[in-house]
Amino acid sequence: MNPLLHDAALRASRYLAGLDERPVYPGVGAVARLAELDQPMPEHPQAADTVLRQLDELGSPATMASAGGRFFGFVVGGALPVTVAANWLATAWDQNSASPAAAPATAAFELVALRWLRELLDLPRDAAGAFVSGTTMGNLCALAAARHAVLERAGWDVEADGLFGAPPITVVVGDEAHPTLFKALGVLGLGRSRVVTVPVDDQGRMRADRLPRLTGPSVVCLQAGNVNTGAFDPFIALCEQAHHDGAWVHVDGAFGLWAQAAPELRHLSAGVNLADSWATDAHKWLNVPYDSGLAFVRDANALRAAMAVTAAYLPTPGDGARVPSDFTPELSRRARGVDVWAALSALGRRGVAEMVERCCAHAQTFARGLSSAGFEVLNEVVLNQVLVRFGTDQNTGDVIEALQADGTCWCGLTHWQGRAAMRISVCSWATSGADVQRSLAAIVRVANGRTR
Ligand SMILES: Cc1ncc(COP(=O)(O)O)c(C=O)c1O
Repeated sequence: MNPLLHDAALRASRYLAGLDERPVYPGVGAVARLAELDQPMPEHPQAADTVLRQLDELGSPATMASAGGRFFGFVVGGALPVTVAANWLATAWDQNSASPAAAPATAAFELVALRWLRELLDLPRDAAGAFVSGTTMGNLCALAAARHAVLERAGWDVEADGLFGAPPITVVVGDEAHPTLFKALGVLGLGRSRVVTVPVDDQGRMRADRLPRLTGPSVVCLQAGNVNTGAFDPFIALCEQAHHDGAWVHVDGAFGLWAQAAPELRHLSAGVNLADSWATDAHKWLNVPYDSGLAFVRDANALRAAMAVTAAYLPTPGDGARVPSDFTPELSRRARGVDVWAALSALGRRGVAEMVERCCAHAQTFARGLSSAGFEVLNEVVLNQVLVRFGTDQNTGDVIEALQADGTCWCGLTHWQGRAAMRISVCSWATSGADVQRSLAAIVRVANGRTR
């Protein structure tokens, strides 16, 4: 075996095996040692095994143990072992996944993965799909398709002529839209602030009774899974009214869209498939390695119109085969769909459902445990998100800081409707019941005195 790859596999295995015993946030000393990286670029080549050793010795101890079972920050999934292995193999292939002419194998794996995803998430079976870096880019792709479609209906070719002089587009967002949705709107020239904002209820759900009547080119942006509470917009009422008014409906479903794959949770996302486009992440709840997001667009031609390019040197398959780069912002990119195919293949429909439902059951355990310990849970725990408060804003911040330093688990600070809260997001395949109990005990211990 190639000794270098063998060494990398051994080091990676040792790293993963050690996650259970080490503090989730790296030690102060390990982070301080990163300063040793700040060297002049080597003048002469170095042995590859020396480079790998430096990476492991300096890098591994300074990582956040988010691949383990007790990281609950930011809605971050782990990486199923089969997806890490598939990712390694696909990295060895080093395919440029732009087209079947350049990469027949990865084009085929991605095609199947997209079909399985549409079935699993119950999206239109003929929707276009794109593998992108995350939901930020998924939102951007889907909204580019929306921009194309609503302006085309108004007789304007936005790809050719840009937005100068174009008919104005009304963009509607909920008051709790994720900041990256605004980033996508800004990049697309639709404006981060030039939006109509609809109020939300106490869980962050858009209020259907406050959706304005729309005329002319319009895009309504909804959300499956609020980043704090996990709440879902009421899709049926919102989609019906928006479509009645001729608007395009887009759903940011970074993690919430995965409720569609879980029979126990599907009631939460009822009607989400009425929309016109969707963005979600595979690196969150499908637990594949970073980076991996998805865009789906009901009108495949709209996404293709927004993203496709032609050039004399780029082959057009004679058999009408799908060209992946017709649907993505990038031309060259890694084979993200291979990791996704591996996850879906290994888990099966039941395995995905079980993983998503298990995370939500863990969230319920956290909420029950913290409530019975006398702490205030601020949200209705419908999905995988728990917001808990420890008395005052100041005390909540202090508890979070002490918990992060304790290292048993890692949770972050947020503010929910004006009040500081600790956010627990359960999203990893690796989180076991024992991890939850150990983390719960640590949170209660730290909150009841902030001592070990
Ligand atoms: C609702 C929502 N939208 C968008 C994003 C951004 O996703 P990404 O970081 O994968 O681009 C997130 C991330 O947590 C999210 O929760």
